Amino acid sequence: MTRSIADALDEGRRILVAGGVPDPAVDVELLLAHVLDIGRGEVAVKAITGGVLDDSLGVHFDELVARRAEREPLQHLTGLAPFRSLELHVGPGVFVPRPETEGVAQIAIDALDARADESPIAVDLGTGSGALALALATEVPRSRVYAVELSPEAAVWTRRNIESTGAHVTLVIGDMTDALSELDGTVSVVVSNPPYIPTGMIPRDPEVRLFDPALALYGGEGGLDLVRALSHRALALLVPGGTLVIEHGEEQGAAIRELLAHDGWRGPATHEDLTRRDRATTATR
Ligand SMILES: C[S@@+](CC[C@H](N)C(=O)[O-])C[C@H]1O[C@@H](n2cnc3c(N)ncnc32)[C@H](O)[C@@H]1O
Repeated sequence: MTRSIADALDEGRRILVAGGVPDPAVDVELLLAHVLDIGRGEVAVKAITGGVLDDSLGVHFDELVARRAEREPLQHLTGLAPFRSLELHVGPGVFVPRPETEGVAQIAIDALDARADESPIAVDLGTGSGALALALATEVPRSRVYAVELSPEAAVWTRRNIESTGAHVTLVIGDMTDALSELDGTVSVVVSNPPYIPTGMIPRDPEVRLFDPALALYGGEGGLDLVRALSHRALALLVPGGTLVIEHGEEQGAAIRELLAHDGWRGPATHEDLTRRDRATTATR
C-alpha cells in the first residue's frame, strides 16, 4: 500500500516509541533516508511536500522499523556508523564506534601531529571497526598507523573499513597485551578504547547488552584488567616522551591515573568529553 512519507514517519515513530528507543524521531528519519538512499534533510523535505513511499520500499522500511523497535542498533540496520569525517561499515561482531570516542581521537591526533618526526608511528590497541586508527591515519597522513584486534569477527570489519577508506593502516590480529613487540621503543602515540566495564555490571541498553560483542565490553571484575595490561604494553612500545591515550568510564579517571603513576608514567591527566564527563586519561612515557 502506497503511503505518504509523512504518514510512514508518524507510524514508524509510534512503533519506536513503543519499543522504548531513545531517539525515535531521529532514528525513523535515518531509517527512511537509508531505505530511500537520500539524506535525512531530503526526507524532511519530502515529508512536508507530500512525497510518497512506494510499496516495496515501504515493506523494507517497516521491516527495519520493527527490528529497531526490538533494539537492534541503528548502525547495524544502516550498516554504517559516522566517525569524525569517516563512514565506517559495522554490523554483528564489531563494537559500534561512539561519538565520545571522537574526542579521544582528537587528543591522539593532536599528540601525533605535534611530533617533529617525519613519519611518526601510532598504534591503536583493540581497534574494532578501526575507528581510532583510521582517524589517525586520515587526519595525520604523514604518520604510520598500526591497529591491533584480537577478535577475528571484528577484524573482518576493520579490513573492510581500511579498504573502503583507502587509509594506510596495518592491521595485526593479536592480543594487545603482547602484540607488535617489533615496534618496541619506536612508537610516538598509543591510543586505546579498551573493554572497561566491570564484568558484573551488565549494561542496561539492549543495543549494547545484546549487540556489542562481550569481548569489546568487559574488562574483568574491576573493569581495569585491560587498562593494566595496556599500561605495560604501551610503556614498552613508546619512545621516551611518547603519549598514551586511554578511553574509559566516567568513574575510572582517578583509578587509572593512580595505576599509571604507579607504573612510572609522567603526568597522568584526565580529560572531559563534550558532556563534561571524564572519558579519557593521557600520560607521557
Ligand atoms: C570498546 S571496543 C573499541 C573498539 C574501537 N577502538 C572503538 O573505539 O570503537 C574494544 C575492542 O578491543 C578488542 N579487544 C578486547 N580484548 C583485546 C585484546 N586482549 N587484544 C586486542 N584487542 C582486544 C575488542 O574485540 C574490541 O574490538
